[in-house]
Amino acid sequence: MNLLVTGGAGFIGSNFVRMVLRDHPDCRIVNLDKLTYAGNLENLAGYMENPNHMFVRGDICDADLISQLMDEYGINVMINFAAESHVDRSLVDPGVFIDTNVTGTLTLLKVALERKIDRFLQVSTDEVYGSLGPDGFFTEQSPIQPNSPYSASKAAADHLVHAFGHSWGLKVNITRCSNNYGEYQFPEKMIPLMIHNAMHDKELPVYGDGLYIRDWLYVYDHCTAIWQVLTKGRIGEVYNIGGNNEKTNLEVVGLILEHLGKPSTLIRHVKDRPGHDRRYAIDSGKTMQELGWSPSVTFEEGIARTIDWYRSNTEWLNHIVSGAYQQYYESMYRDR
Ligand code: NAD
Ligand code: TYD
Repeated sequence: MNLLVTGGAGFIGSNFVRMVLRDHPDCRIVNLDKLTYAGNLENLAGYMENPNHMFVRGDICDADLISQLMDEYGINVMINFAAESHVDRSLVDPGVFIDTNVTGTLTLLKVALERKIDRFLQVSTDEVYGSLGPDGFFTEQSPIQPNSPYSASKAAADHLVHAFGHSWGLKVNITRCSNNYGEYQFPEKMIPLMIHNAMHDKELPVYGDGLYIRDWLYVYDHCTAIWQVLTKGRIGEVYNIGGNNEKTNLEVVGLILEHLGKPSTLIRHVKDRPGHDRRYAIDSGKTMQELGWSPSVTFEEGIARTIDWYRSNTEWLNHIVSGAYQQYYESMYRDR
């Protein structure tokens, strides 16, 4: 398989690239990433020289570049991880979310259609389904009701992917996963942000009452599910991928504090996110039954591994938090 992976220097994409290079030596990967603030070549340390991996810095909105890579490397499968991925940023500057998440996906789809590739896999999110009350789960049949500019842009992309399959027979799949956590996640997202702050005895900014619920999926389990969809998924189908680990934000923060031996007095309730989705929960039954996949890591194991990883990779973390991150943190949290 000759794969074009986009966004492979980000959190999930780099975990996927490392997994494939390690476990599937028959695959060749072209990794196209713009290296925005979220892209980091240190996520690929040890894999840059791998002969099955070619890293290219570039934009998924650049049709000429994508066409050239397709031809040069005989690409027959595309996986689109590239995105602007943070809800809070989308509430400040939604335009770039439309550029990358919508126009970028459209650009990839057009080239994929011209080349009649074997499969196009769009990595999407459960956030396209909107928010749940205290009961029930998102299934693949749930209505698409995004609430944030981020999820609206991801939903638009999903509709385009479906339309290319439906109208012209492009061989597509969409995966919709819950909140990922694990090694190499950029510390704007809740779990690494709280780990980093707690490690440095800084306040932990919990939005609102902290009783918002997310279903946490260990990133490696997400990657194995994507692999199953890529190799066994029925063309045209959507697959939900969840971790079966529903937790309130306060529960997650409590576990982080406990694991690091820090006091709960570090918790500070801050002004809520506008339009904050109350609860996400995923029914992964279809993916489990059809593709024989199941998550392998409990939340307690996964969070312990993740915290240990951040504790032993302080150089990786320091390179991030010493740069533009400080301004970001100031601007997002100063007046909260
Ligand atoms: P991330 O922000 O860590 O990484 C995104 C990567 O995309 C970065 O390397 C960035 O440089 C690259 N990128 C951004 N714009 C680009 C462009 N125009 N052209 C090329 N590359 C570009 O994101 P992530 O958490 O790894 O998420 C990956 C995918 O999974 C996204 O599509 C996201 O919507 C989806 N997703 C993430 C989560 C989660 O919990 N992190 C949950 C559900 C779905
Ligand atoms: P986040 O990691 O941004 O993912 P998403 O919004 O895509 O689910 O946030 C996870 C949850 O944590 C969400 O309910 C918002 C909350 N949160 C905080 O309470 N404080 C924070 O500083 C951040 C970044 C998130």
